[in-house]
Amino acid sequence: MMFMPKKTTISLIKCDVGSLAGHYVAPKPLSNVAQKNLKKATEEGLINSYQVFNVGDDLQLLMIHERGESNSEIHKLAWDTFKEASNKALELKLYGAGQDLLKTAFSGNIRGMGPGVAEMEIEERGSDPIVALAADKTSAGAFNFPLFRIFADPMSTAGLVIDPNMTGGFKFEVLDTVENRSIVLKCPEEMYELLALIGTVQRYMISRVWRARDDLICATGSITRLSKIAGKYIGKDDPVMVVRAQHGLPALGEILVPFMHSYLVEGWMRGSHWGPIMPVGLKDAKCTVFDGPPRIVALGFQIASGKIASDDDGKPMIADLFDDPAFDLARHEALENASMLRRMGEFEPARLGPEEMEYTTLRQILKKLKKRFKSG
Ligand code: F6R
Ligand code: MG
Ligand code: MG
Repeated sequence: MMFMPKKTTISLIKCDVGSLAGHYVAPKPLSNVAQKNLKKATEEGLINSYQVFNVGDDLQLLMIHERGESNSEIHKLAWDTFKEASNKALELKLYGAGQDLLKTAFSGNIRGMGPGVAEMEIEERGSDPIVALAADKTSAGAFNFPLFRIFADPMSTAGLVIDPNMTGGFKFEVLDTVENRSIVLKCPEEMYELLALIGTVQRYMISRVWRARDDLICATGSITRLSKIAGKYIGKDDPVMVVRAQHGLPALGEILVPFMHSYLVEGWMRGSHWGPIMPVGLKDAKCTVFDGPPRIVALGFQIASGKIASDDDGKPMIADLFDDPAFDLARHEALENASMLRRMGEFEPARLGPEEMEYTTLRQILKKLKKRFKSG
């Protein structure tokens, strides 16, 4: 009999279904809906284990199962859960209830319907450490910089220099969100070409990374352009990402190195400004000043026999990785940079350039002024 390696799927699906006191935080009654539904789905055997959390106003469903990527039952579970949580948000008159649910009826795949999806089917290694990253008040281009540093920058990831399993480099799938096409580039050979694209974070976004020598999947991110789906501005496409670590892949610590410093991402207030990313623990995953600064959390766990490895009480063991003084410097830098940018108010480059502002409510203001311009 042929040996069939066990395949496990990690699905991280998120949605803004409404929040407390503005776009601040998805409160407990909403995560309770998700807890209830995912618990039931586990008892019924649809999924094997799960973790519900939130980053700012986004409700996050981390689900581990054996049904592969883009599975309609898994996506329906997420869709129904977001619908039910939206109804709860409506009932409580929370702010922006159902914000990201752009379609009314589920059509088999939740992609393109509003929620963000990062999914990865893996053949379980002897031990498979995973990091799930989720950010609020920014978009998928925010992951270009850390993904480049993790999988292509030898000054950041020592394994690219020291570990023979990694010296062959990594392949990056980049989506062109304007032309709706994609390209795969291999590093180190095509590093400069990769940078030529992904430096334009508002257009080119890294969607997948594989180890070059054996095409082992290493990272996958959610890429959505809500404004394109809806045809109008409805907030930013707060992104999620799943990354595999260790044993011939970047170590956990190498995945975290890019977050020792803050860097600028697009999003923040009204999805219209450059803002400094702030790595935070789950307790600080809520957006305040100028609706930010954009926050990112990182959860570490182990995949073991189709589940998240759990403790003696059967509770999934989740490491809240940015809940650590090692990221105090980045948080401090984020605040310093936030105050510098906010001193500039609505002047570029604190505000996004005109192309991106086209997708915001500024368009209506400019339209109003149009008639009043005199030529010459
Ligand atoms: C950004 C975001 C918020 C809102 C802002 C205005 O992604 O969600 O910054 O854009 O709070 O929100 P409304 O127009 O709902 O009052
Ligand atoms: Mg919101
Ligand atoms: Mg959000």
